[in-house]
Amino acid sequence: MIIAVDGPTASGKGTIAKALARRFGLPHLDTGLLYRAVGYQVSLYEGDPDNPAEALAATNFPDELLGHPELRSEATGGLASRVSVHPGVRKALLERQQKFAGQPGGAVLDGRDIGTVIAPNADVKLFVTASVEARARRRWQEMHDRGESHTLLEIEDDLRRRDERDRTRAAAPLVVPEDAFVLDTTELDKDASIAAAIDVVLQATGQQPCP
Ligand code: DC
Repeated sequence: MIIAVDGPTASGKGTIAKALARRFGLPHLDTGLLYRAVGYQVSLYEGDPDNPAEALAATNFPDELLGHPELRSEATGGLASRVSVHPGVRKALLERQQKFAGQPGGAVLDGRDIGTVIAPNADVKLFVTASVEARARRRWQEMHDRGESHTLLEIEDDLRRRDERDRTRAAAPLVVPEDAFVLDTTELDKDASIAAAIDVVLQATGQQPCP
């Protein structure tokens, strides 16, 4: 079974994808991490993330980079969003993602274009979203817990900028796949979001939802 989980930054899609992978015994790939690795590698080369050739050269990042803590930072998230607009970068990362999705038994992948480009034939497609205010509050809390100080307004502005870039780019923009189930987590906490996502998968695959 292939489960595609798409959605904007800080919507909760990563948490949901991980929980679905655990619940259904499937391997999970956070595809955003690949774009983050490219963005971070560009910065290590002191390159320009907006330059298509320099961003493409950074797709040869070493696998060990995927475990680097700096990949989780807001700064790297911004670089990832910038390198992800280049069609060459997307093409260079395509095969790796499709191979993961196509492994025997299936997989859970989360990102922006899983249901549309990477695995258009996925058995279940979820589009996880939440209001920008709710996403900014969650992101603020995460950063606060890590000891990083940013105002709510700064985070909200950054999310809006990244949403705009991810939604309006020409190559594989963030859109709701036609056959996706939209899960709005604005009013849901983590456990309720996960429970709702599990119910979607159970229903989509003809299994009985939990009582
Ligand atoms: O999910 P994330 O915040 O880690 O993603 C970082 C950036 O990577 C995001 O702003 C856009 C890009 N991305 C993408 O274009 N396609 C994906 N499948 C995953 C991420």
